[in-house]
Amino acid sequence: MRITIFGTGYVGLVTGACLADVGHDVLCMDVDADKIARLEQGEIPIFEPGLEGLVKENVAAGRLRFTTDPAAAVAFATLQFIAVGTPPDEDGSADLQYVLAVAETIGRHMADDKVIVDKSTVPVGTADRVRERVAAMLESRGEALAFDVCSNPEFLKEGAAINDFTHGARIVVGTDSERVKRLMRECYAPYIRQQEKLMFMDVRSAELTKYAANAMLATKISFMNEIANLAERLGADVEQVRLGIGSDPRIGYQFIYPGCGYGGSCFPKDVQALARTAGQVGYRAELLTAVEAVNQRQKRSLYTKLEQAFDGELAGKTIALWGLAFKPDTDDMRDAPSRTLMEALWQAGATVRAYDPQAMKECRRLYGERDDLLLAGDRIQAVKGADALVICTEWKDFRAVDFDWLKAQLATPVVVDGRNLYDPALVRQAGLLYYAVGRGESLVL
Ligand code: UDX
Repeated sequence: MRITIFGTGYVGLVTGACLADVGHDVLCMDVDADKIARLEQGEIPIFEPGLEGLVKENVAAGRLRFTTDPAAAVAFATLQFIAVGTPPDEDGSADLQYVLAVAETIGRHMADDKVIVDKSTVPVGTADRVRERVAAMLESRGEALAFDVCSNPEFLKEGAAINDFTHGARIVVGTDSERVKRLMRECYAPYIRQQEKLMFMDVRSAELTKYAANAMLATKISFMNEIANLAERLGADVEQVRLGIGSDPRIGYQFIYPGCGYGGSCFPKDVQALARTAGQVGYRAELLTAVEAVNQRQKRSLYTKLEQAFDGELAGKTIALWGLAFKPDTDDMRDAPSRTLMEALWQAGATVRAYDPQAMKECRRLYGERDDLLLAGDRIQAVKGADALVICTEWKDFRAVDFDWLKAQLATPVVVDGRNLYDPALVRQAGLLYYAVGRGESLVL
């Protein structure tokens, strides 16, 4: 079946490539001509395992095409996916200008009936606003064409997006139209071996499902970080506690890893946007506000630990950083804990010497050339002569370390581990001062 996708960012590109890969005929539209030209050459603007190969294969097979021509994009298919960005406004609510601009484009160019699919993460009620925008555009053209708007949120994790798209736990579609259900069933048929995977519900419930899923996962993380902070003060080991509670199937092992806080393009933005939405309907979302506040504090905790380890004397120190991306297998640094740390260190007059397997270019793009930011060629260069090592991301390259070697590299034997990668006993045996997250002696008192 033919499918148009507006937006070739993370979600749009993964959706387009995956749908083309199962045999659909997909046209991806973007207003960024340079990006489209590069995509046509098989050049992928983001790092996502497997995506480049998938795009190249499907472009070669003629099933995946790109355009900057809005009229052609609208004319191409009945199904029109909106997968453009919804960045946060200054007040934390989702900025819908790009979503509504696509709605206008569709309304301006459509010549037959369309099904508009909201894939972007949008606040509850957005489908209604998209509907209004398309209708207004049709009215101004004096046209009376039929169209539907449905919600089809994505649940992709960066670094595992292709697998999440093809083997996701569920496909949620919010609609009350039988025609939309039929078309969406046809679109997703290749992925549905168990029929119950495709869930139809009303539009507002589908929109809220997306936010509720991300807010629940973020809550699990902040909860665990709170327990970790308590464990530090009570002389307990949160890693033992994690196993202890995860073994209860009602709790489960997933998303209870304590760390230096969650980052990325979804959790921080979505938790805040949901809290804003709550405020708009007169409800004070206490839990959501606390989840966000705990996370802010957690992102700051790496710096606090360094500050305590060095008695506040961080000016002139060189701090090695392993990991810049907000999580492994991505080059994404949006809201990454590494950024909170680097910015605090710079403010204190310290120099950062960082290494990340993928995010070095992104770091340079974000912060430019500056004397207090050194980008190391590998993890070894990063630590040579540094005053301390901080681990911000659990890349697998950082998991096995010869601690005697590490001790010899560092000018001061301080290791702050934001991801609990090592056995504290082994690290300490080498004479290193080891500050992990919630592991008994981690707190510098
Ligand atoms: C998330 C959701 O998982 C996905 O379903 C949604 O569509 C988009 O948001 P993503 O942001 O790509 O995906 O990454 P995820 O793997 O969920 O991690 C988010 C953050 O939480 C990372 O910073 C990670 O380090 C942190 N995290 C995750 C923890 O600190 N502890 C955990 O136990 C799990």
